[in-house]
Amino acid sequence: MKTCPNGQELKFVLNNQVVELSASADKTLLQAVRELGLTGTKEGCASGDCGACTVMVGEQSGDEIRYHTINACIAPVEQQAGKHVVTVEGLQSGDVLHPAQREMVNCHGSQCGFCTPGFVMSLATLVEQGAPAEREEVLQGISGNLCRCTGYRPIVEAGLKALQAPFQQPIEGAGLLQSLESFEATSVLQPTTEPELQAAISQQSGAGLIAGGTDLMLEVTQRYQSMPTLIDVSNVESLKSVHEVDGSLVIGAAVPYTELETLFAARSEPFVSLLHRLGSRQIRNSGTLGGNLANGSPIADTPPVLIALDARIELVNTAGESRMLSVQDFYKGYRDTDLGGDEYVARIHIPVQSLDAFHRFYKSSKRLEDDISSVMGAFLFEGSANEITGARVAYGGMAATPVRLAAVEDALVGEKPDAGLIAEVVSMIASQMTPLTDVRASAEYRSAMAASMLERALLEFTGEDRPVITEVQLHA
Ligand SMILES: Cc1cc2nc3c(=O)[nH]c(=O)nc-3n(C[C@H](O)[C@H](O)[C@H](O)COP(=O)(O)OP(=O)(O)OC[C@H]3O[C@@H](n4cnc5c(N)ncnc54)[C@H](O)[C@@H]3O)c2cc1C
Ligand code: FES
Ligand code: FES
Repeated sequence: MKTCPNGQELKFVLNNQVVELSASADKTLLQAVRELGLTGTKEGCASGDCGACTVMVGEQSGDEIRYHTINACIAPVEQQAGKHVVTVEGLQSGDVLHPAQREMVNCHGSQCGFCTPGFVMSLATLVEQGAPAEREEVLQGISGNLCRCTGYRPIVEAGLKALQAPFQQPIEGAGLLQSLESFEATSVLQPTTEPELQAAISQQSGAGLIAGGTDLMLEVTQRYQSMPTLIDVSNVESLKSVHEVDGSLVIGAAVPYTELETLFAARSEPFVSLLHRLGSRQIRNSGTLGGNLANGSPIADTPPVLIALDARIELVNTAGESRMLSVQDFYKGYRDTDLGGDEYVARIHIPVQSLDAFHRFYKSSKRLEDDISSVMGAFLFEGSANEITGARVAYGGMAATPVRLAAVEDALVGEKPDAGLIAEVVSMIASQMTPLTDVRASAEYRSAMAASMLERALLEFTGEDRPVITEVQLHA
């Protein structure tokens, strides 16, 4: 466990100063920095959706400090123990503006200015990361930032120009990080090994687990729940690592999505494309597969993907005993999973064979980025255009849990995926699931999208890659 000699205060570097404070587990970083007088960081939505509260967080990684963005409104301040938090006040070096600030001025990237500190932090982080001066990089970097008045063209232009300009000044305060030799977060316990995590879970009965906090902290900011103590899994080294064992890719439950984008870059284009649409850059810098699964939501994006890939979840209890179960067996009912009170999600095992097979993941949502799915379809097919020898068909957003459609799979396996078979299985969809009508989509729309996604996947499998939302399906 990371500890501080006096055992009382949380310590981190805030811009160019070491800060010590005490806070409850549910106090957000946004509240803390604003109380410290740094009011440049704004609160727009308090739910991770608008990016007005974006700050840069640096963590020591070997000899270097790596920076990424987070939404301060849903990040517990105690989770920042031992890190370098940079707010918009910390970018300027004397009279010299950071390139992100300078180019926002030069490109007229601000009107009312409320969103501007958040955009500046997202762009500045790209500069600090040495990102290439490419439009796609800038778009991904600001995918969690909303602007209601300026429009995005000048902001994107500012980002590109900032990335083209060499940056001379290091971020002030970075050198202080090494002076935080030891630290403690008193109300967010920070085990660094699995035995420490197991001990913390047994000793702190009732304390919840937190990884990225991108689901959990909304309970605090949107539902006003109080969480005096939390156990943070995001410092447990073995839960942050990835390795390949016995033909499976074994992914620690606390690996953030941004790292998964790199991991899957050469292994699964469909998964990477989906990750680019999961939340925003800020959300993906914090959010994890473990949190997505354990949250038990029927509209989470990755459970259908993991079902289609035949992944298994490794759960470990406080005695260090582990058990494996399939992702579909993990879900018992609406927001109800098989996770025991003394267990945590440790790892996700994905067969490499599945990644080598044909697979497609389609997400339907109202916005391209930073939006929850109305329907999520995940498909894996083996065989050829003459005969399907294996099929896995899974959906999110269509029932109280993520679902796998065994009847559709059975109808496909052993058959030639010709127009007749495709029409037959597509027509089965409406009778297999009874989705809800809610603010995101009507039940009819969901069924039509689910059918259309299956048809599209099969057409792509057979080599007929074309758009396929038919009138018949939309009015089914
Ligand atoms: C703006 C915004 C956009 C979003 N967009 C998407 C989206 O497009 N698609 C999507 O699927 N989700 C989305 N989400 C939801 C969220 O980001 C994901 O579900 C994410 O994967 C949660 O991971 P986390 O690490 O932040 O979980 P946390 O919030 O830390 O935890 C979530 C739950 O899981 C538990 N938990 C966490 N880790 C473990 C573990 N190892 N073992 C046992 N229990 C654990 C916690 O106790 C908690 O109950 C979005 C959220 C926000 C705020
Ligand atoms: S205030 Fe909107 S994302 Fe934090
Ligand atoms: S400048 Fe007004 S919201 Fe962006």
